[in-house]
Amino acid sequence: MRLPAFTDSFDADWLSLREPADRAARNEKVAAKLNDWRGRLGSRKGAALKVVDLGAGTGSALRYLEPRIPGPQDWTLVERDPDLIAEGARRLKRQASAWGYRPADLAQDDLVALVAGADLITGSALLDLCSAAWINRLVAACAQAGAAAWFSLNVTGDKQWSPADPADWLVERAFARDMRRDKGFGPALGPQAGFQAAEAFAQAGYSIALGPSNWRLGAGSAALQRAYLKGYAEAARVQRPDLTRRISNWRADRLRAVLEGRSHIRVGHVDLFAAPSGSSA
Ligand SMILES: C[S@@+](CC[C@H](N)C(=O)[O-])C[C@H]1O[C@@H](n2cnc3c(N)ncnc32)[C@H](O)[C@@H]1O
Repeated sequence: MRLPAFTDSFDADWLSLREPADRAARNEKVAAKLNDWRGRLGSRKGAALKVVDLGAGTGSALRYLEPRIPGPQDWTLVERDPDLIAEGARRLKRQASAWGYRPADLAQDDLVALVAGADLITGSALLDLCSAAWINRLVAACAQAGAAAWFSLNVTGDKQWSPADPADWLVERAFARDMRRDKGFGPALGPQAGFQAAEAFAQAGYSIALGPSNWRLGAGSAALQRAYLKGYAEAARVQRPDLTRRISNWRADRLRAVLEGRSHIRVGHVDLFAAPSGSSA
């Protein structure tokens, strides 16, 4: 399995492993605002709602949102990784909505063209990979399309480890450097991304709903905890090779706690829904 944080690609096993935790974490109140917005649009739009999902992976956002949005939907899934596109196409076969993948590189291709004609633009676990400049371009493209936006699972950097370990802060500081690393979009905003996007949408005249979508990983998420800890420790080690021994001891202690069912990890995220002017979030 290619691991999440250190590499810049995300394999289907990792996305499958995290999908139940993502589903449990997504903010239902924020999703309800999206549902309300769609309801208000109803009388004006008889046709299927056109949704463009950016960095779609295997289609997790479609699987989550489809039953939460009233009426017919037509999804375009924008993704650059051919393996994820193949796996997503397999997994989405029985989905009720119309859908299709659009292979594209979000960092290079014309965002305005990618989202043209959309009613709703979505992204899940994407914005923290992106730079401030790219997020501003995204907001401008959404505004130009007159589309609403839902961006879920934006990392906030808030972390709680149990049991606590004296090296937690040290590893967290090393990992924070990785969060800011360029993942193809320019220097990543990491934990600021969700809030920066909210501010940019507000400045563009959108009304905003923001709410927490934290992962709460316990004994029932042992496999996800193991994969997360491996990726987290490796990303920290690459940033601080001088701390290799301390980081690998930290990881070994944490993996032992997972094995013994004693480990709990809370990973902070925030969900955002932005409704264009004329409708409210
Ligand atoms: C953390 S994964 C989230 C996937 C999916 N949205 C989900 O919630 O399961 C980030 C996704 O963004 C995609 N991605 C990253 N950079 C991209 C780029 N420059 N162009 C298109 N997709 C990109 C990755 O391939 C991956 O599918």
